[in-house]
Amino acid sequence: MSTQKPPEDLSEAEARRELARLATEIRLADAAYYKQDDPHLSDAEYDALRQRNSDVEAAFPHLKRKDSPSDRVGVEVSEAFSKVEHGIPMLSLDNAFSDEDVEEFAARIRRFLGLEAGEALTITAEPKIDGLSLNLTYEDGELVRAATRGNGQVGEDVTANARTIDDIPAKLGGAGWPSRIEIRGEVYMEGKAFEALNTSQEAVGKKVFANPRNAAAGSLRQLDVAITRSRPLRFFAYAWGEASQKFADTQTDAVAMLQDWGFVTNDLFKPYQDVKGLLGAYANMAERRAMLGYDIDGVVYKVDRLDWQERLGYVSRFPRWAIAHKFPAERAVTRLEAIEIQVGRTGTLTPVARLTPVTVGGVVVSNATLHNEDEIARLDVRPGDMVEIQRAGDVIPQVLGVVDPDKDRAPSYEFPETCPECGSAAVREIDDKGEEDVRRRCTGGLTCPAQAVERLKHFVSRKALDIDGLGAKQVELFYSKGAVKGPQDIFRLAQRLAEEGLPPLKDWEGFGNTSAQNLFDAIDARRKPPFQRFLNGLGIRHVGEITSGLLARHYLDWDSFWQVIETAAGGDASAEADLLSIDGIGQTAITSLKDFAAESHNQEMLAGLLAEIEIEPAEAAASDSAVSGKTIVFTGTLEKMTRDEAKSRATALGAKVSGSVSGKTDILVAGPGAGSKLKKAEELGVRVISEDDWLELAGL
Ligand code: IVH
Repeated sequence: MSTQKPPEDLSEAEARRELARLATEIRLADAAYYKQDDPHLSDAEYDALRQRNSDVEAAFPHLKRKDSPSDRVGVEVSEAFSKVEHGIPMLSLDNAFSDEDVEEFAARIRRFLGLEAGEALTITAEPKIDGLSLNLTYEDGELVRAATRGNGQVGEDVTANARTIDDIPAKLGGAGWPSRIEIRGEVYMEGKAFEALNTSQEAVGKKVFANPRNAAAGSLRQLDVAITRSRPLRFFAYAWGEASQKFADTQTDAVAMLQDWGFVTNDLFKPYQDVKGLLGAYANMAERRAMLGYDIDGVVYKVDRLDWQERLGYVSRFPRWAIAHKFPAERAVTRLEAIEIQVGRTGTLTPVARLTPVTVGGVVVSNATLHNEDEIARLDVRPGDMVEIQRAGDVIPQVLGVVDPDKDRAPSYEFPETCPECGSAAVREIDDKGEEDVRRRCTGGLTCPAQAVERLKHFVSRKALDIDGLGAKQVELFYSKGAVKGPQDIFRLAQRLAEEGLPPLKDWEGFGNTSAQNLFDAIDARRKPPFQRFLNGLGIRHVGEITSGLLARHYLDWDSFWQVIETAAGGDASAEADLLSIDGIGQTAITSLKDFAAESHNQEMLAGLLAEIEIEPAEAAASDSAVSGKTIVFTGTLEKMTRDEAKSRATALGAKVSGSVSGKTDILVAGPGAGSKLKKAEELGVRVISEDDWLELAGL
């Protein structure tokens, strides 16, 4: 990958060209991801494109394109296929990576079923096909519906497409099929067919697919069924979902039935009597993998007896009776050209390895994640090193380690302690247990360009300053034009436009006299923000709505509060003790406030803001209310007030509001539609009341 010029070094013409290129690349990546099931970029690569686009836009706001990617997130998920609910959800499989994991799988099953040491436990082994799963519904032996897995509960209706696949019978043959049954299996493309498809795609200038799985997914989900028909898709049946009646006692018998009914089943499927047999099957399949003619990425083990499968049941998304023993990921060696630090929208500094492009498992990789500072230290990777990388399935490629380090390699990499975007200190948090966070985060918040837009959106949002007519879209617009760089600029919008040589707001597209005036009025209406909202709006880590409320009700006016924070930041132990004495305020929030206050960019920003606005003092919390000191959780729909209002009333009455039910919960206020929290509260014997009870209790 060529090194990029910093945006400020670009000429206008270069910037314009680069923005055009980025707009196209991002649009294609979006389409590939959302519409064609073919994410040809890793998440890190995609984020890097978007980041570069915003950087260039920030440097050349007037060149921002009408179709700028920063104005949209992804594309609408295809509405072309209608949604269908599966009769029984389509689950995933838990993974095993080592022989021990497989031993443990078998041992777990034995324990669960209470099997005696000598008692036989037959487990089947079969290849894990690297394709996409499909759910076929047959009624009275006729195929009536085919659906993709989707989110496991609801998939997309691809019946017409599935009918073009020869391996999928339109009518069941043989005998003994239930009148209604969901047959499940994998759609895939053979390696040869994949190569041929790519050759012909290339010849006519169409996109080539990264691997057979993407080709299969892209070919199946075609609106034009003729295209699906022209693609050589295949199907292995290996499981079933809803069935109107029992049709077998074991997995082995069931698979034989599927074959009898006209499906293709995998001929490597076989039952084994012990773990040794399973591991032998795994080794055998790993060895034959390259010769099979289709991609497999592991071996699936299933308990053979169906009554036992039923007893074992499910844990969250996985059946307890099956597991996928994965093959090791594919690896390659290449040069680490540079370590770049990306700053995420919430301030996390993520190191990315820029690599000399190399093909791993059929995909060209030029970036890999290095996770975090500790990982770089652990691997001791340095720019210029040859490194081994690994790509497993769809996850971002990973750097595994350095290969034969040179004697004269670069010095050890030093992770920056300041943010590369804004120069603010970047810190690692220590949590309440005294453990250091592996992530380093920029403390610049609102003053950091990487975070600015996200933070500004939060600042004007409903739970913070709540400025009418100034939403995410407007914030992005003003930011991209360079008019609003920090929150203080919002309150000087008219001046800021003039300072940047931009036309007055009334002359902007989509504004006009009235809406421009309305916006200025709405901004003016928030020149006296309440303490709690203002503090929440600053977006300081661990200082959200609830913590802000606790601090506001304790200190009442902003100046006294901020003085305590600054004193604590200066190392004063009694100021810190004062903060810690507040019920509900912990060390993490305090450290985060201190870090924020110590950062000069933030001091300037606050001074700028306070020159424009006046923070309204809070009212003291009632300490004698019926709920004071109690921990309350709200769940379900509230009908007389919004959830936000209920929460703020509760805290104003001196209660603590929590998001989850635990042993510490005193009261659960449950409205209609309450689900898991209600169940948990009942289990724990927590007092559960209705919304009306709550209103009465709160004296509202
Ligand atoms: S059995 C409840 N057998 O792997 C378990 N799945 O990670 C049902 N897959 O979504 C699945 N080959 O797409 C099973 N021989 C095989 C498989 C297989 C591939 C896929 C399937 C599933 C995923 C689970």
